Amino acid sequence: MSRPLGLYVHLPFCVRKCPYCAFNSHALTAEDSLEGYAAALELEARRRRAEADRPVTSVFFGGGTPTVYPAQALVRILSTLRSVYGFAPDCEVTVEANPGTVAPADFVRLRRGGFTRVSIGGQSFHPDRLRVLGRIHGPGEIAAAVTAAQEVFAQVNLDLMWALPGQELAEWQADLEQAVALGPSHLSLYGLEIEAGTRFATLHRQGRLKLPDEASVLAMGALARRRLARAGYVQYEVSGWARPGCRSRHNLNYWRRGEYLGLGAGAHSFVGGVRSWNLSSPSRYARALADGGLARQGWERPDRNEAADEWLALRLRLVEGFSEAAFRRAFGLTVSEAFPGVLAELCALGLLVRGAGRVRLSARGRMLMNRVVLELSARRIDLTALPPSA
Ligand SMILES: C[S@@+](CC[C@H](N)C(=O)[O-])C[C@H]1O[C@@H](n2cnc3c(N)ncnc32)[C@H](O)[C@@H]1O
Ligand code: SF4
Repeated sequence: MSRPLGLYVHLPFCVRKCPYCAFNSHALTAEDSLEGYAAALELEARRRRAEADRPVTSVFFGGGTPTVYPAQALVRILSTLRSVYGFAPDCEVTVEANPGTVAPADFVRLRRGGFTRVSIGGQSFHPDRLRVLGRIHGPGEIAAAVTAAQEVFAQVNLDLMWALPGQELAEWQADLEQAVALGPSHLSLYGLEIEAGTRFATLHRQGRLKLPDEASVLAMGALARRRLARAGYVQYEVSGWARPGCRSRHNLNYWRRGEYLGLGAGAHSFVGGVRSWNLSSPSRYARALADGGLARQGWERPDRNEAADEWLALRLRLVEGFSEAAFRRAFGLTVSEAFPGVLAELCALGLLVRGAGRVRLSARGRMLMNRVVLELSARRIDLTALPPSA
């Protein structure tokens, strides 16, 4: 089997900007040209054809809100990508869809046009929480979108957020019940992160966001794990639960540090050991492409230290963790030699579990993943000082 190759397509426009969101997404204004941006994407795809030396194994249209585009426009971009890059026969093709921007007929058009999976941003079923989150939809539109998507797609993901301002355990339980009752094939549960530069960051600084305390957050996490396991979902990633056979192949490739091309404003790529990223402003991105360029903003080749930190941080997101033999194959020394002492300490603290040649986070470790990853990186030896064969 050839190595996976992901293709990410960034569509940065939204109906309006949510106050917690730090993604490269922008409220659509009269100055924006959806057509101009789509044309730039197609130009970028053609100009970067040579970066792909094999057919694409997964595609992800993310945002922003891809479904501010008519379904026909998304299908057209997809068919250009298919003709430029070639898709593997069982290629997974996901599109993010926001309640309030899709009708049942759109799902039919997307399915006919080659998309195989839909990811719906629901966030919460509680009207007060949706209001605080600045969402453009109510709970009814989430259920309607999931149900309509399920009529035509076997693979449907629902995103929910938790640890929200004003949220209590009983309300989170009700959200989980509604999600389970809808029965999507995949659920992504994201604990709210207060991101720098957002409206939420300002409100937080001013003490105007009433966030659940740490004990409540841990209880919410534990409740989700129990409830979803009982409903037949298997957690395979820090934020990801899937019915058997329904994991997101595109995301798995990220967590395994596989290669991917990213097209669109601000999109990142990782090919041939090089990370690169595009201009983040959609208008500057589109102009650069229209002017005959590539809209690339920068690139770097992670050194051995950065590569080892990244390798561990990404794989530890997966419930399966990583194989010690695979680390050795990738870096030429054992994980204990590269990170001396710290693995045993994190195991003793109950944050890591080690056995049968694998290392993974415990359930508690997954809740404290950022701390674990920082600790590992701080205790790594300098791998760049070793001879290349070490
Ligand atoms: C790339 S976003 C875009 C999805 C889509 N536009 C939407 O809003 O439904 C993907 C997901 O990230 C999550 N997300 C965004 N900002 C977040 C934050 N500050 N903390 C936690 N999760 C967040 C939301 O669940 C969202 O559905
Ligand atoms: S959360 Fe989604 S809809 Fe809201 S601004 Fe971010 S990308 Fe747009």
